[in-house]
Amino acid sequence: MKEVYQVPASQSLQGDVIISGAKNAVLPLMAATLLCRGTSIINNVPQLDDVDTMADVLRYLGAKVELQGSRLTIDTRECDGYQAPYHLVTKMRASIYVLGPLLARLGQASVALPGGCAWGPRPVDLHIAGMQALSAKVELSHGNIHAHAGRLKGADFTFPISSVGATVNLLLAAVLADGTTRLFNAAIEPEIDNLVDQLNAMGAQIFGKGSNTLVIEGVAELQAAEIDAIADRIEAGTYLIAAAITKGKLTVKQVQPSHLTALIDSLTATGALVYCEDDSITLDAQRRALKPISIKTGPYPLFATDLQPQWMTLCVSLAGVSQVTDTVYPERFQHVAELCRLGANIRVKGNTASIIGTPNLSGAPVKASDLRAGAALILAGLIATEHTDISDIHHLDRGYQNLIGKFANLGVTIHRHASHTTDCQTKTTPLLSLCG
Ligand code: EPZ
Repeated sequence: MKEVYQVPASQSLQGDVIISGAKNAVLPLMAATLLCRGTSIINNVPQLDDVDTMADVLRYLGAKVELQGSRLTIDTRECDGYQAPYHLVTKMRASIYVLGPLLARLGQASVALPGGCAWGPRPVDLHIAGMQALSAKVELSHGNIHAHAGRLKGADFTFPISSVGATVNLLLAAVLADGTTRLFNAAIEPEIDNLVDQLNAMGAQIFGKGSNTLVIEGVAELQAAEIDAIADRIEAGTYLIAAAITKGKLTVKQVQPSHLTALIDSLTATGALVYCEDDSITLDAQRRALKPISIKTGPYPLFATDLQPQWMTLCVSLAGVSQVTDTVYPERFQHVAELCRLGANIRVKGNTASIIGTPNLSGAPVKASDLRAGAALILAGLIATEHTDISDIHHLDRGYQNLIGKFANLGVTIHRHASHTTDCQTKTTPLLSLCG
């Protein structure tokens, strides 16, 4: 049954948000448990559809997986499967993270090729080239990656472009390889550091954490360990931008401010007041005349592409002209047409969107094309007149925990309705309303 989020025009957001663990950290941490036979623990795990999907992939491979609150227990003692099937991989690209650990521990892996996504092709050629560099034989057939190797051999590998996912997979493969692997131009996202901490806690020998050059001394075996997932910097950024858009005052808690420097600098440049404590960030935009600021996304620590759609909504809400350029995903602009349905004035040319701010958006039915585009539409709905109905919200369930509850704590009542009709003619029957 299709569901919609009904977002009301809202006052300024006020209050605190407790930030959940990071989806993009937890998925690699879960895949890493395949490298040992034992019971691994991951703490601070959010309840999200993507976490459930990775759990299903691990169960398919023979693991026992249990989430109690935010504590995830993964028992891999019976894990002998080496195939990650199409029906699971198509639900979530990150399922490909099992390629490295299966190859490393079992000497073989068969993983369905993840297709493209809403904003175009997302190749995995670097994942494959990396496995081949570690002496794996890789064949693509019938939509699957089939990889074989005796024991992987350590080697040098240079990423021609920064890739989070390929860095994850190479790390997971190289820790059990014979000899030394050096990864050059590796991604340095905080989620990679979280994974390096976990692997070293399992007995791996990884050096160079936080730098673009990672050196991995392969070991014979790894043990199960316990690790805490870092906070979700993208979730935190989404709420901070929401506060700026609604001219509110908001504190995101249990977050690492150092993970969001590019965003904090850009928010400060708009004229918002932003101040940080050890594990919280407060944004105050009350009674402040903000101006739109152009941004260009890039690999960490540059402005995150996963905050680009939300930032575009902020620029739409402010009088003036600005530009948003995405260098990571040059075609990541599916949210533009939907924002224009609400009355925004945006032109896309190549990998740059030019925005003429139009603070008076009007509520309308719109559709989420992916996770972050969905977040941008929620934020737009907060400032559009009347209400905005957002469909295809399954995308949001993949990456935002308790979205309705967290907005309710900020004074906004978002309703989740069953939608009985498709697209624009939404006629809804209230299913669940958390407050009001
Ligand atoms: C991770 O995706 C995140 N996903 C994405 O977040 C995020 O947008 C992206 O990193 C960039 O920060 C997860 O962590 C699960 P990449 P990933 O490999 O690893 C090209 C969200 O909203 N490339 O760093 O798939 C690629 O096409 C999601 O939470 C190749 O060409 O991204 C892109 O242009 C969306 N060949 C660039 O590299 C490859 O083999 C960066 O992609 C791999 C990547």
